[in-house]
Amino acid sequence: EALHHRSASLNFALAASASGSLPFSYFQQTCSCYFSTSNQRSSQFFSDPAEAVKDIPNGATILVGGFGLCGIPENLINSLLKTGVKGLTAVSNNAGVDNFGLGLLLQTKQIKRMISSYVGENAEFERQYLAGELEVELTPQGTLAERIRAGGAGIPAFFTATGYGTLIQEGGSPIKYNKDGSIAIASEKREVRVEFNSRHYIMEKAITGDFALIKAWKADKAGNIIFRKTARNFNQPMCKAAKTTIVEVEEVVDVGTFAEEDIHIPSIYIHRVVEGASYEKRIEKRTVQKSQEAKPKPKKDSDIVRERIIRRAALEFEDGMYANLGIGIPMLASNFIKPDITVHLQSENGILGLGPYPTEDAVDADLINAGKETVTVLPGAAYFSSDESFAMIRGGHINLTMLGAMQVSKYGDLANWMIPGKMVKGMGGAMDLVASAGTKVVVTMEHSAKGGKHKILDKCSLPLTGKQCVDRIITEKAVFDVDKTTGLTLIEVWEGLTPEDIKACTGTDFQVSNAPVWLPVLYFIPLQVS
Ligand SMILES: *[C@@H]1O[C@H](CO)[C@@H](O)[C@H](O)[C@H]1NC(C)=O
Repeated sequence: EALHHRSASLNFALAASASGSLPFSYFQQTCSCYFSTSNQRSSQFFSDPAEAVKDIPNGATILVGGFGLCGIPENLINSLLKTGVKGLTAVSNNAGVDNFGLGLLLQTKQIKRMISSYVGENAEFERQYLAGELEVELTPQGTLAERIRAGGAGIPAFFTATGYGTLIQEGGSPIKYNKDGSIAIASEKREVRVEFNSRHYIMEKAITGDFALIKAWKADKAGNIIFRKTARNFNQPMCKAAKTTIVEVEEVVDVGTFAEEDIHIPSIYIHRVVEGASYEKRIEKRTVQKSQEAKPKPKKDSDIVRERIIRRAALEFEDGMYANLGIGIPMLASNFIKPDITVHLQSENGILGLGPYPTEDAVDADLINAGKETVTVLPGAAYFSSDESFAMIRGGHINLTMLGAMQVSKYGDLANWMIPGKMVKGMGGAMDLVASAGTKVVVTMEHSAKGGKHKILDKCSLPLTGKQCVDRIITEKAVFDVDKTTGLTLIEVWEGLTPEDIKACTGTDFQVSNAPVWLPVLYFIPLQVS
């Protein structure tokens, strides 16, 4: 059939050419394709990564794949160190760590601006930003993924609920600080529309790049590529959103080594392929299961408080639920899912069906959770890209999201990503998670901050993660239900405490349900595992 098709097209070309309706060049091009015995392909293959990046000019916008250190194009990044290109705008979820990944290009001051969702664990990144040496456009993770996806798909802008009522929508968020700590460049405000589903949506513009630097697992000789486990993340949408996409792979294989239906990115998006000489695949947080013999550490008071919250939080899980759990207490709550129910855990870097930490021999740098910890997956799990992950979240397919907070207001406003001028970790995926209609948002946190400062307030004083988005608050002292319009209702108290005790340590008023139940002492059993 292929042969038949080929000759039919050729006959068309010959006939059209003979009748003079097609230029000769068309005929020539067509023929050279059809009759070439060489492996015709649009992707160029390089053996030296430095050759593949040498034409990236000063001031270019580069899209750099990876989540934390997982799935980063390490050979291509190292090559940029050698070319010495400067003034880059780098679009990347994170910025590596101090001495690996994009962190290396920050050290050499080759990056002028980062567009990222999380500054996180990179101390030099945070320092340069707060000292006014680096421009940083913090963007919610799902919005970042979708802006890139849209860029590749020819969609100039789109509307999302993520970020409404926050600095993202209001503008004025610091992109660049002055040396004195005042704001030199502030973010632009976003257009708001309420005409869709009577919710507030903000307009976000697409992102495209001059170059994309991608890490994939394998490319075939036609330039089709596949990714491995959670190393797919932002690499997938970024492949499609740059004028020139440069992919480094672990292996170039013959066509047919992986099946056509298993290809993650068709060759049309791939311009250059480099086989990396070696991969360090550094692990940011190597977490393993503790052996049974390990002695439990003696408990501090703060551990006891955390245990209480963890055990109460675990009661939020219901059979068949899809849940996304934040780092810390929410994730630990998954150790206490009742054995007779099934909960599917989603990790926003691209896993559905998250499993426990690996044993030492099963640690895999290509398999991490959103906290950058090494993990495993359960039978029936699936991996996907960051844009897919946030489609799942934004689309309301996740039943429950549980996360920590610095402040919560009586109407459910949440603040957990920034202390102006002091601490900017970034919002990561939190703004997207809490903006999703149809997802229950449960906050787990200590009732008060250090020194007894209130965390449950009339109004949050810190920049918001989301407006009127929290449905329930769980602390070591109390559980509140939150209503967007009527405010808080106390539904449970810790054994021995009264509603008056809770009033005394809460920064806002609340209603008390007719019969607030005591949190049963049953949940206060010392943790066996952590
Ligand atoms: C989870 O959400 C879906 C809708 O996306 C719903 O059909 C399902 O019943 C929910 N499951 C639970 C256990 O809440």
